[in-house]
Amino acid sequence: MKQLYIKTWGCQMNVYDSDRMADLLAPLGYGPASGPENADMVILNTCHIREKAAEKMFSELGRLRKLKDRAADQQGREMRIAVAGCVAQAEGAEITRRAPFVDMVVGPQTYHRLPELVSQLDPGARRHLVDTEFPAEAKFDSLPEEASPRGPAAFLSVQEGCDKFCSFCVVPYTRGAEFSRPVEQILVEAKRLVAQGSRELTLLGQNVNAWHGQGPDGREWGLGRLLRQLAEIDGLDRLRYTTSHPLDMDEDLMMAHRDVPALMPYLHLPVQSGSDRILQAMNRRHTAADYLKILDRLRQYRPDIALSGDFIVGFPGETDRDFADTLKLVDAAGYAAAYSFKYSARPGTPAAGQTDQVEAQVSADRLAALQQVLDAWQMAFNKQTEGSQMDILIEKSAGRPGQLAARSPYMQSVYLDGPRDLIGQILPVVISEAGQNSVRASLLDAKGAA
Ligand code: SAH
Ligand code: SF4
Ligand code: F3S
Repeated sequence: MKQLYIKTWGCQMNVYDSDRMADLLAPLGYGPASGPENADMVILNTCHIREKAAEKMFSELGRLRKLKDRAADQQGREMRIAVAGCVAQAEGAEITRRAPFVDMVVGPQTYHRLPELVSQLDPGARRHLVDTEFPAEAKFDSLPEEASPRGPAAFLSVQEGCDKFCSFCVVPYTRGAEFSRPVEQILVEAKRLVAQGSRELTLLGQNVNAWHGQGPDGREWGLGRLLRQLAEIDGLDRLRYTTSHPLDMDEDLMMAHRDVPALMPYLHLPVQSGSDRILQAMNRRHTAADYLKILDRLRQYRPDIALSGDFIVGFPGETDRDFADTLKLVDAAGYAAAYSFKYSARPGTPAAGQTDQVEAQVSADRLAALQQVLDAWQMAFNKQTEGSQMDILIEKSAGRPGQLAARSPYMQSVYLDGPRDLIGQILPVVISEAGQNSVRASLLDAKGAA
């Protein structure tokens, strides 16, 4: 068995892609390695969203080069290195120039060709195979039906790419145009994942709620309809989807949160800023009020829904007043969790060329202030679940022996004591103690006592 080590950065779509790359290489005799040291092939699946993310890849390549040289010099063994993902797509040529020891470069739309590329590698040859075209053939049609089990909670990509072109974002360039996988293909994959033991599926897309397709009834389906269909699958107990764009939150999808018990009461809905001026400069194409209206409607359908968002501070031209509007929106929205980032100028995006870039210290101060407010909201949300009962999905062992890690319906990380054989079960618990980033719970016995 040859050993394959994959390191993954970035979003959940990259996590999904990494698993699919492992599935693609399994028929060639590659199995999982515990680390890069003894691997025959190392794949770096990269993220280009912020500058730091891309730089991490180059420092990792520096370390790999030493391992590759050592394998060749001391063991006469060839370690192949592939770079995949969004940095590969954006900077394929730069990678082979800065790191000529890289054997293969594949983009998010071409990784299905990995087995073909591997077969073209000559032993010892210093030749790079770069494949980052956006191919005409659909990647998803070329992925193997065979796949390893994914555990109790699995990802399923249903949509890729983005046509929104927010002025700060590289995704439309690295992932290409919006594409929705056909209904039938999604249903087949969902049933396979459930048959292999997954009980929760998270549908993935850069813009997942832009998903659309033709249903078996001949009608045009949106994501809400797809979720209703998936909920019919026996053994599929929980559904989630991410990431959504406010403009594509249609009524049917919001109503699914009322109608479909399997659809978890949690939604990640990025807004980026609370200032209409900045939202416009970002090309988000909605106002702060539009966004809050969507949250109101969602809460009408599902009053207990937990919301999360993404924020960027220090977008070019952002003033103290714009930033104050962001803080105002946070308090009006009431988040259970959120992610916030300092604006990072990305090559090739319209915002990177703006002359009114915000000073680094100002951005850092705003990020700290925003995170403080978001942390307080998250703590308040977690606190308010203390003492309540809910069903959690037990996903894996936690760090400490005898401790298990689970997810609440609201996407909270839950820790509890219990034996390993509970992994994969959905069980009632009472939340005993709230922390900033997780909660503790105890199992209820059949009589409902903790
Ligand atoms: N498709 C999703 C998320 C894409 S990237 C959406 O529409 O929101 C995930 C998050 O990274 C974004 O929501 C944004 O908050 C952040 N992000 C994207 N580009 C960035 C940049 N240039 N600088 C800082 N943060 C960025
Ligand atoms: Fe990027 Fe905007 Fe597309 Fe999200 S919607 S992936 S932030 S361009
Ligand atoms: Fe990063 Fe590409 Fe995802 S840039 S966030 S890995 S789509």
